[in-house]
Amino acid sequence: MLIQTVDFKVITDGRGSLISLEGGSADVPFDIQRVYYIFGVGEGVVRGAHAHKRLRQVVVCMSGSCRMVLDNGLGVKEDIVLDTPTRGLLISSMTWREMHDFSPDCVLVVLADSHYDESDYYRNYEDFLRAARGEPAV
Ligand code: TYD
Repeated sequence: MLIQTVDFKVITDGRGSLISLEGGSADVPFDIQRVYYIFGVGEGVVRGAHAHKRLRQVVVCMSGSCRMVLDNGLGVKEDIVLDTPTRGLLISSMTWREMHDFSPDCVLVVLADSHYDESDYYRNYEDFLRAARGEPAV
């Protein structure tokens, strides 16, 4: 099962709603070392198209919507529409991800377990497939 989501506890009162996310919890099962967000994505643009060797992330769509496609490199490919700030998508390491179908108002927030490190990326799909199959890099 590549798609792992968590429905967050929403604290709502007469003034609106609040969600609190803590590192090392059932919502975010790691210490949060980095937060980044993606917004202002044009129509038809595809983002992501990479996998991480070690990094784990939780992705939350704060506004609008987009479609996340996950691929484990071993024949399993699943997608999910992210369209609510009340749900998080946990993305494990060694998972190729692509984001499609961004609405103009989409804001994606990503919680990550490590600082940015370009050496943790597979940006080439063939390299990722080889690694996923346990084959040596070429
Ligand atoms: P990229 O990984 O291509 O974004 P996406 O996965 O949304 O397609 O990142 C875009 C640029 O931003 C790239 O030059 C790397 C840089 N970047 C950072 O400097 N820090 C970060 O935390 C992230 C995620 C990206």
